Amino acid sequence: MPETTSPANASATQEARITAALGARSIVLVGMMGAGKSTIGRRLSSRLGMPFLDADAEIEAAAGMSIPDIFESRGEPDFRDGEARVIARLLDSGPAVLATGGGAFMRKETRDRIRDKAVSIWLKVDADIIMRRVKRRSDRPLLQTADPEATVGRLISEREPVYRQADLTIASRDVPHEKIVEECIEALHGLLCRGGAKETNDRIGVTP
Ligand code: S3P
Repeated sequence: MPETTSPANASATQEARITAALGARSIVLVGMMGAGKSTIGRRLSSRLGMPFLDADAEIEAAAGMSIPDIFESRGEPDFRDGEARVIARLLDSGPAVLATGGGAFMRKETRDRIRDKAVSIWLKVDADIIMRRVKRRSDRPLLQTADPEATVGRLISEREPVYRQADLTIASRDVPHEKIVEECIEALHGLLCRGGAKETNDRIGVTP
């Protein structure tokens, strides 16, 4: 009997190839707050049949308090140390899709660990989308400033050169989440299964 591959089977095969090529490595989502790292990460993990981990939620669980409370009572440097420790632990806990907080990838030690133990995806997002997504929320201590828009602009210009070091870049924008997830899958497949090199970074899913 001739073998037929339906589109659904082809996609299942693509996902199986990605997880096989990952081996013990995780997928780590990096990028600014409001980029959709948790939303996309959760969906990507279910497509790939991998566990989903959220670094911010794990930090809150480990500290027994919310991120705004950690910033308030212990200060940002202490939060950053805890964040680095939690991400190191999560990267050692087996392959997963891991969403990180927006500042995590700025620490070299964390970037090095991610490079060694994971494939990283930068969800690149424009300032206006960030502002729209975070506007009505008070859970981002870094944006409790007199001019949150200026703060976001400054953080983007400080951070983008570093986020760019991720293995892959996908433009996060106002399209259905499944479209972004599909682009992540295509980009992972290109990088891991078709021998796509680093230049994938500038070609896949990025709106110039
Ligand atoms: C931060 C982003 C937040 C959280 C903390 C600091 C940042 O996570 O870790 O408020 O430095 O950009 P999200 O990126 O998930 O919002």
